[in-house]
Amino acid sequence: MSLFRTALCERLGIEYPIVQSGMGSVAGPDLVAEVCRAGGLGILAGLNVPPDDLRKMIRHVRSLTNRPFGVNLWLHKALRPPIDPTSVPEETLRGAQAVLDRFRARLGVPAATPTRPGRGPDLVDAAVAVVLDERPPVFSAALGTPGPELVADCHRRGIKVMAMVATVEDARTAAADGVDVVVAQGGEAGGHRSVDGKPASPETTSLGIVVLLPQVVDVVRVPVVAAGGIADGRGLVAVLALGASGALLGTRFVATRESLAPEIYKKRLLESESGATTLTDVITGLWARALANTFTREYAASGAPVLPPLVQRGVANDVYTAALKQGDPEYFPMMAGQSVGLIRDLPGAAEVVHTLVREARAVLDALPRRVRLS
Ligand SMILES: Cc1cc2nc3c(=O)[nH]c(=O)nc-3n(C[C@H](O)[C@H](O)[C@H](O)COP(=O)(O)O)c2cc1C
Repeated sequence: MSLFRTALCERLGIEYPIVQSGMGSVAGPDLVAEVCRAGGLGILAGLNVPPDDLRKMIRHVRSLTNRPFGVNLWLHKALRPPIDPTSVPEETLRGAQAVLDRFRARLGVPAATPTRPGRGPDLVDAAVAVVLDERPPVFSAALGTPGPELVADCHRRGIKVMAMVATVEDARTAAADGVDVVVAQGGEAGGHRSVDGKPASPETTSLGIVVLLPQVVDVVRVPVVAAGGIADGRGLVAVLALGASGALLGTRFVATRESLAPEIYKKRLLESESGATTLTDVITGLWARALANTFTREYAASGAPVLPPLVQRGVANDVYTAALKQGDPEYFPMMAGQSVGLIRDLPGAAEVVHTLVREARAVLDALPRRVRLS
């Protein structure tokens, strides 16, 4: 039997307690299938994917592997339906556009006219319907707990539910909803804080994983997976010691050959130290950890207003698109966690899983020699 079988492995039918995050715009079918074939749980990103495309992607994963996999969706209320930009006062919008126009001028992008963007597409309910219909082995919910009805709908169709939370209170709520696995997201994590709504400051939903994880383990009965700051076998063993049943990794999998992240982003990740990230709301309007660049620094320093959740992203999107086209990482959003300083290579995703297992075994073997009980 594998040294690393945990309750998570039993519950999800996977070989190793290693989960790849369903990262928006990063985790496509190739990455997911590769992780699953290596014995971990790969999760497909459903964020902003139109329903027909999501269905095709799920079927694509199935054509590549018969191992268990997951599909991730954000459940955030700012997406259900998307916030209407007409609700933003003219002056606020003009303030945001003024700083964005500065960036546009540098990138040779036309200034904002009209200043008011259209409303984003309302995709979440249709995506949930696709998940229920396609019945992937796991539904992974983030930025909002799923609620007992959706959990029951999933269970009736044989779908296990995993919910990512950033507070002890949300862990209790997710467990009461009946989820099969709780993911505790520490403040080290790359990407958005997994909470519904938007706290005034990111502090309350950015607890270190060493502090958050044991508290979550203490209040729920289902397996808990740790997310945030884990990029090697040492991290995996550490969270198992704290009571986790597995580890979920995001940033480590961004820097893999199969990830859909553009080359400029992967290159910046490999060059960055752990202090290179920032917790900011200027990229999307929600708190997220990303690599600091000219965009995040200058926007914050300008004092310009940040638009409501995801309206901010919609308004700034032409800047991001131009930056990508021009290969300019200074104006492109690059979500990344503090584990970035541990990541120096660009392996295949299966190799990441195998390396984690190998390293974790070595750590466990060495531990009795390093820590003598008397
Ligand atoms: C580029 C990127 C995109 C992400 N997108 C999502 C997402 O769409 N859904 C989600 O549940 N979590 C997303 N996350 C957060 C991860 O699920 C997870 O909490 C985090 O990556 C764990 O910390 P780590 O990056 O230190 O491994 C994303 C993370 C990154 C780095």
